Amino acid sequence: MLSKNLLKKLNEQVTLEFYSSNLYLQMSSWCNHKGLEGSAKFLRDHANDEMSHMQKIFSYVQDTGALAIIDTIEKPIIAFENLLEVFVQTYEHEKMITSKINELVDIALSEKDFSTFNFLQWYVAEQHEEEKLFKSILDKIEVIGLDGRGLFMIDREIGNITIH
Ligand code: FEO
Repeated sequence: MLSKNLLKKLNEQVTLEFYSSNLYLQMSSWCNHKGLEGSAKFLRDHANDEMSHMQKIFSYVQDTGALAIIDTIEKPIIAFENLLEVFVQTYEHEKMITSKINELVDIALSEKDFSTFNFLQWYVAEQHEEEKLFKSILDKIEVIGLDGRGLFMIDREIGNITIH
């Protein structure tokens, strides 16, 4: 059975994963609007990935016999300076999500809730991959640059990334 505190935190994470999905979907729309089809596709796929993260926690909470609760989902940012800013924001966002997952792991461990601790290991590994992925995109942008054909090349590269 989940403690009151852990249930509250897991439900907050459900809402946060929803927000992540909306954020990436909104970014996808911005990219699409700017003719950046590769990035738009990547971010849209990633928005779906975030929904699966949300569903996994939602189901886990329910499986423990508790009530999964979706809170108000914050409105995502809608305008960006350029593609670099989009991906700086994704990287910062993922680092914030990692800190939230780490917080959950810390609580589960301190409460000796080993079942939840075990469940959260998937998220620990996933966040490692997510940070690595978004950092690699930032590195590509830095190397190739966004001037002239650079933007076209970057967008094509990003569009070719497959989401696991
Ligand atoms: Fe659900 Fe991108 O972390």
